[in-house]
Amino acid sequence: MHSVQFVPAFLVLASVIAQKLPPLRDHLLIADTGVGHRSSPVQTWQTSLRRLESDGSSTRTLFEYGNPTPQNQPIGSTSIVLDPETLSVYVATGQGIIRTEIDGSGNETVIPESATSVVLAGGRLYWGTMYDGLIKSANLDGTDVKMARNVSSGINYNIIPSYTPAISYPDGLAVVPRDFMYWSSSNSGIGQVENGTIKRISISLSKEMKYEEILVTSVNMPGQLRVVGPWLYFVEKGRYSNSPTSLKRFKIPLARNRDPVAIETIISASQFPEIFTENDKVDKLTLSIKSFAVDTENKRLWVAAESNSRIMFAKIIEMGLDGEDVKVINSDPKQIGIPVGLEYVR
Ligand SMILES: *[C@@H]1O[C@H](CO)[C@@H](O)[C@H](O)[C@H]1NC(C)=O
Ligand SMILES: *[C@@H]1O[C@H](CO)[C@@H](O)[C@H](O)[C@H]1NC(C)=O
Ligand SMILES: *[C@@H]1O[C@H](CO)[C@@H](O)[C@H](O)[C@H]1NC(C)=O
Repeated sequence: MHSVQFVPAFLVLASVIAQKLPPLRDHLLIADTGVGHRSSPVQTWQTSLRRLESDGSSTRTLFEYGNPTPQNQPIGSTSIVLDPETLSVYVATGQGIIRTEIDGSGNETVIPESATSVVLAGGRLYWGTMYDGLIKSANLDGTDVKMARNVSSGINYNIIPSYTPAISYPDGLAVVPRDFMYWSSSNSGIGQVENGTIKRISISLSKEMKYEEILVTSVNMPGQLRVVGPWLYFVEKGRYSNSPTSLKRFKIPLARNRDPVAIETIISASQFPEIFTENDKVDKLTLSIKSFAVDTENKRLWVAAESNSRIMFAKIIEMGLDGEDVKVINSDPKQIGIPVGLEYVR
């Protein structure tokens, strides 16, 4: 108590505020899926939420999901979304969608099921399920769960149990309230995995708009989606460690789409073999793009790529919104984890 008398009052106030509010310097949040035990031993670590400064420096682990096990077995994660209003962070993990504060404190499971991805729109959470091919939504506290759409294209229970029986399932999602819901439609059917599509359906109130449109076909495992101005950006994850992987975009059609949309490549592994190819001493591996985050104000974006194999590789790559000025800002998986989700915090 005594020492306080020597501290100017405004500094005491400043430190109280600093403790109450999360540091608001712009940064990136990373959903790290973690590294599990392999037949050839590698370092394992838990699924985590990490923070990376937007210049690639100074990483911090904010939260570790799931209870620690002797071998640090991760519970896995697929996706992250920030609510900029409440500064809550939602991560889709193998044990459900878990909410924390932006600093990783106050964990709470809001949706007790695993999801392929999670997004926020109009004050609700939307997520995709792989097993039964559904898009669901709920209030931010997990109440009022609804089926937003059944995109399964049918269920096939005759294939190997535990494998996804939905013929197709949603991966990435983008929801624009009172406009459209977009999803990456991935296929589980034999010979169809490489033919992922991006679809949308109107969610406006007018009934005559309720048709489903196929916007893009032949994507090798379409992943995360984001609407950025007039564009829809999408990740092509690639199925295998040597499959094509890229971030692409197209202009969102304003009216019902009858012609194929024109696709632009923002970045692809084949354009930058020096960034995306690593040799683990057995094979040449292509790092797979899993996620991206956008700073619309400063017209920058970051791509997260990883190769979760015998040896783990992971990179965060910064560029302009058109794919210009590409630079790797961090390539140390011990710092950035195995990044499967990225969010930018202003
Ligand atoms: C999360 O919060 C609960 C209490 O609600 C606690 O029991 C649990 O240990 C916390 N940590 C993790 C990693 O889930
Ligand atoms: C989704 O649709 C498929 C048919 O396309 C059906 O078999 C399945 O039961 C539906 N799922 C739900 C939860 O309604
Ligand atoms: C890919 O999927 C689309 C939409 O379902 C379909 O029209 C097209 O025939 C498929 N292409 C191949 C090569 O299977």
